[in-house]
Amino acid sequence: MIRKARIDDVKAIHGLLMHTDEHDALVLPRSFSQLYSHLRDFVVAVDDDDKVIGCCALSLIWENLAEIRSLVVLPAHRGKQLGRQLVETCLRESVTLGILKVYTLTEETSFFAHLGFVEEGMESLNQKIFIDCLNCPRFPDHCNEVAMIINL
Ligand SMILES: CC(C)(COP(=O)(O)OP(=O)(O)OC[C@H]1O[C@@H](n2cnc3c(N)ncnc32)[C@H](O)[C@@H]1OP(=O)(O)O)[C@@H](O)C(=O)NCCC(=O)NCCS
Repeated sequence: MIRKARIDDVKAIHGLLMHTDEHDALVLPRSFSQLYSHLRDFVVAVDDDDKVIGCCALSLIWENLAEIRSLVVLPAHRGKQLGRQLVETCLRESVTLGILKVYTLTEETSFFAHLGFVEEGMESLNQKIFIDCLNCPRFPDHCNEVAMIINL
C-alpha cells in the first residue's frame, strides 16, 4: 500500500536513503532535520504490517515545476510495481497542486523512461541548480545524473 508519510516513519525513511545497495544508482542521503521539515513531501510504500519498504518525495521547486526525489524501494520488494506506484502517487499530487511539469535527476534513466519521463538538458532547470546542485559535493564534474522531465 502507498500512503502519505507520518512522523514515526522518519527513521525508516532515513535508513532507506542511507543504506541503498552499493550497486544502486545514486540516492542522496538526507539529514533527520531535512526529513522532519520536508516530511509532507513524502509518500511511503508499506507492507501488511505497516513497515516502510519504499519512499519517494515530491519537492516543490518553482511556479509550475516540481521534482521527484528520494525514490528507493527495499531490494527484497523490487519488481512489484511499488516504484511505479510511488512515483505515480507523487505525480497525481503534483496535478492536484496545479504543477504540470515534474523532473527528476537520475542515473536510472530506463526506469523513468518506462514511466513516461524524457531526457532534458540541465540548462532548462536553472532553479534546481541554484537550490541544490551548488551545495552538492558531486557538482559539477562528478555528477552522472541525467535530468528527465514529464509534462502532465
Ligand atoms: C528504481 C527503483 C525505485 C525501481 O523500483 P521497483 O519497485 O523495482 O520498480 P517497479 O516494479 O515499480 O517497476 C515499474 C516498471 O519499471 C521497470 N523497471 C524497474 N526497474 C527498472 C530499471 N532499473 N530499468 C528499467 N526498467 C525498470 C519494471 O520492469 C516495470 O515495468 P512494467 O511496468 O512494464 O512491468 C528500485 O530499483 C530502487 O529502489 N533502486 C535503487 C534506488 C534508485 O535507483 N532510485 C532512483 C534514483 S533517482
